[in-house]
Amino acid sequence: MKTTVSVIKADIGSVSGHCIAHPELMEICDDVLNEALESSILEDYYITRCGDDIDLIMTHRRGEEDEEVHKTAYDAFLKATERARELKLYGAGQDLLSDTFSGNIKGMGPGVAEMEFKERPSDPVIVYCCDKTEPGAFNLPIYKIFADPFNTSGLVIDPSLHDGFKFEVFDVMEHKKVILNCPEEMYDLLALIGSTGRYVIKRVFKKNGEIAASISTERLNLMAGEYIGKDDPVAIVRAQSGFPAGGECVEPFAFPHMVSGWMRGSHNGPMMPTSEFEANPIRFDGPPRVIGLGFQVSDAKLIGVGDGPVDLFDDPAFDATREEASKIATYIRRHGPFEPHRLPSEEMEYTSLPGVMEKLEKRFEDME
Ligand code: 13P
Ligand code: 13P
Ligand code: MG
Ligand code: MG
Repeated sequence: MKTTVSVIKADIGSVSGHCIAHPELMEICDDVLNEALESSILEDYYITRCGDDIDLIMTHRRGEEDEEVHKTAYDAFLKATERARELKLYGAGQDLLSDTFSGNIKGMGPGVAEMEFKERPSDPVIVYCCDKTEPGAFNLPIYKIFADPFNTSGLVIDPSLHDGFKFEVFDVMEHKKVILNCPEEMYDLLALIGSTGRYVIKRVFKKNGEIAASISTERLNLMAGEYIGKDDPVAIVRAQSGFPAGGECVEPFAFPHMVSGWMRGSHNGPMMPTSEFEANPIRFDGPPRVIGLGFQVSDAKLIGVGDGPVDLFDDPAFDATREEASKIATYIRRHGPFEPHRLPSEEMEYTSLPGVMEKLEKRFEDME
């Protein structure tokens, strides 16, 4: 029997602007998911938040894109939105594009990462959740985990990884996808995924087809035809025994790489890995955050330590990364509204440019 891990996330309202999802919203989600557990739709779940985004981590036996599982998540977000509106939380219902569920949560606003697999004798699974950034933010770390031997020494020294991995890449503008093999097509892969706003890694497979990683790639701006919110992503990664070791899966995050998002979804800034409790994007609404949660999946149950998973970035070894991210934040912030801190105008969530151009139109003269 196979197990499915589904991670579905949405920002449905937060406190103090776009900082933190209200605990009551998480409690409402907990009630709805608990009902789904009692009616055997779910086998297990864990609810967390990264900044203003609520992440529902669910296990079940129903496969990917299951209507009941997606409806459970949608109902949870919809019910919590009612409370968010009563409390006048900021951006109440931000990521819900409709209040009628249409059979699949994809395209309705929330981000989705799912994978179905036959459990190994022991199956470590890591879930990453971000705030104040976009799906392409995972391109660099996922590439390093599964294709860079300087990050993942197992690619060189572990015979079970030595064949490499296959990357499924989405072109989110043209709605096309392609599969590239690594290490054979590494340079082609990098040629695409270096464009993080357009080409995003959706899945990674072993060469035998076994699923290794799954990333949410919803881009709200493109879905709705206009930018109505950043698409803070989530990812699921399998570790150990034929996959990169847990330590190899967190190692890329020791580098606070530049990602798009941050203030008004319109700036570049460093990705800061934090514990669940420090996932509070406050400085200039950031800097962008990622949390990492480690589980063992056992008979479709999420095994952690005590009440929750291993909080992977709750490790003093990441203090230097956080410090470096803060220094980079200070440096790049000094650019104010200039690129490359501010995103190029085509990628900005907010822009006053058309209005400014309209106002100045008559004053523009030919340069001869
Ligand atoms: P174990 O020998 O403890 O399984 O560890 C191997 C490993 O992958 C460490 O990263
Ligand atoms: P969120 O996408 O996390 O809601 O943030 C939006 C924003 O404008 C932050 O400044
Ligand atoms: Mg928000
Ligand atoms: Mg957010």
